[in-house]
Amino acid sequence: EKGNYRHFMQKEIYEQPEVVGHTLSGYLDPVAGEVRPREGIDFSAASRLLIVGCGTASYAGQIAEYWFEALAGLPVEVDIASEFRYRKPAFMPNDVALFISQSGETADTLEAMRMCKAAGLTTIVLVNSPLSTMAREADIVAPTMAGPEIGVASTKAFTCQLGSLAALAVLAGVQRGRIDAAEQASHVTRLMGIPGLMAQALRIEDQINHLAGELAQASIVLYLGRNEFFPMAMEGALKLKEISYIHAEGYAAGELKHGPIALIEDDVAVIVIAPYDELFTKTRSSIQEVRARGARVIAITDDLGAAALDGEASAIITLPRAEGLAAPLVAAVAVQLLAYYVAVHKGTDVDQPRNLAKSVTVE
Ligand code: M6R
Repeated sequence: EKGNYRHFMQKEIYEQPEVVGHTLSGYLDPVAGEVRPREGIDFSAASRLLIVGCGTASYAGQIAEYWFEALAGLPVEVDIASEFRYRKPAFMPNDVALFISQSGETADTLEAMRMCKAAGLTTIVLVNSPLSTMAREADIVAPTMAGPEIGVASTKAFTCQLGSLAALAVLAGVQRGRIDAAEQASHVTRLMGIPGLMAQALRIEDQINHLAGELAQASIVLYLGRNEFFPMAMEGALKLKEISYIHAEGYAAGELKHGPIALIEDDVAVIVIAPYDELFTKTRSSIQEVRARGARVIAITDDLGAAALDGEASAIITLPRAEGLAAPLVAAVAVQLLAYYVAVHKGTDVDQPRNLAKSVTVE
């Protein structure tokens, strides 16, 4: 039931503080300041972590790549399931394979998992549907607790995936001796703060609704970001194209000069995800470059970023300040709301966009 919401997608965006909190509490013990160990999950001797999924789930995996490598020194390879299963991947003896799926029924992800199982790898599935085929067949199930997701565009399942992945990356860091007790406790505190930050982030709704009318007129929307905000840029673009049918692409901000900048003209909008972190000044120069060429630039940042930009962007969406593992979950709220309101302005069928199915059970 949609309750007071206009669409399931809107309801699911608003449910996020609650369901992400619920998911995190399955992974974290805030009293002890520890990530709860999960039976069978042992990254200590892993040579590599393979992460496989489709669409939004693969972007969650790409964000997690930054986390596992930085916090646990664990090499990660992320693949799209449809590519992975046909490219004859070379395995190493201690590879651990993690599959990400909301439905647990996506044909390519399921077949990729079966392939890894047959090759003798430990298979973990991060899954939202506990009774799904993937949940039954994987060696280890890591649950997300988003509850049923009805909107075809994935929102709450994505942020619950990110919450679980963040906890697992900290666990990997602990198991591999990279994170001591004090550091673990501070990550746990930060993770437990995510639902509150997401609830604050939802208050930008009015700012976004205001920008959406104009954005709905853009011929192309480019999303730019660095580090974890690069896959977040791709997720933002996917969300927009799925429900508003505007051509949107996400790029690493540093790639701008290697091609995409050629697209910039007056009716192109550029969304730059630029939290005030150690790469802010680099992302800021991308804002200046595209602005100078006539694009309309919307910066998604925080109060410090907004102050530093001082008129350089055409518009600014100001999120609450979030650090480290929390930052992508907060930014996700902004890209979801933006896509949602643009689609509402265009009058599309938000929950059942054309040509798309909720669960892709054929390849
Ligand atoms: O059920 P899954 O997580 O395996 O689905 C994967 C993709 O089909 C899914 O994320 C798709 O990209 C969504 N429509 C994104 O909004």
